[in-house]
Amino acid sequence: MKTTVSTLQNMKQAGQKITMLTCYDASFATLLDDAGVEILLVGDSLGNVIQGHSSTLPVSLEDMVYHTRCVARGSKDALVLADLPFGSYQVSPQQAYVSAAKLMAAGAEMVKLEGGMIMAETVDFLANRGIPVCTHIGLQPQSVNVYGGYKVQGKSEFDAEVLKRDALAHQAAGAALVLMEMVPAHVAQTVTEALSVPTIGIGAGVDVDGQVLVLHDMLAVYPGKKARFVKNFMAGSHSIQAAVEAYVKAVKAMTFPADEHSF
Ligand code: KIV
Ligand code: NA
Repeated sequence: MKTTVSTLQNMKQAGQKITMLTCYDASFATLLDDAGVEILLVGDSLGNVIQGHSSTLPVSLEDMVYHTRCVARGSKDALVLADLPFGSYQVSPQQAYVSAAKLMAAGAEMVKLEGGMIMAETVDFLANRGIPVCTHIGLQPQSVNVYGGYKVQGKSEFDAEVLKRDALAHQAAGAALVLMEMVPAHVAQTVTEALSVPTIGIGAGVDVDGQVLVLHDMLAVYPGKKARFVKNFMAGSHSIQAAVEAYVKAVKAMTFPADEHSF
């Protein structure tokens, strides 16, 4: 059955966990779709795992359009979510719309953008003009140069409140999904309980509405150092197919992420 924004909303209400993995090409799109992954994220992490850059900043909108087309051709039931890359949406809601429209025309069914409450106006602009939006809060990799490294966010009581405020502002603006990266598990849980829209976590503990990992991380093909929140699903699996199925099963059963993958 085709996954839509309504499916995701219903899953949250029913307490069924949502599975998401990054995907950059048609062959993997078909494999992940067949394994029952609900959302294929054409992430700008392709800057790291496909292009070999050390951050997501060099990724262009054209790169994202190309990989979105590839993934859209290979997927059937999964919802295709595409990242707006660095510099393609921060200037204005209008700039974001022009960029997002290109991703939607390439086959995306939702776009993702990084930023807190400052992006609420843009979320509203897109959502009211036919473009579902997933917001990405907590650690925002496109802001790595502001943080001075990839660090856990929302650790202080104040920062946790800001995170919740941002999530609520995005929901009020019409966001379809809120993704949290590298935040303490109890903070992600509080935000998830405060929202009616589904939350997706990466390094955000088990008490969120769904999980995402970078495909090359969970298949252990990425040569870079492995973050705490990554689990190698190839260990104990005889094929890529089996590893992806194990991930889906673990997310659904809430056996992933464990405490060792959380903050
Ligand atoms: O680009 C990406 O892979 C992402 C995930 C880390 C959520 O945004
Ligand atoms: Na991304």
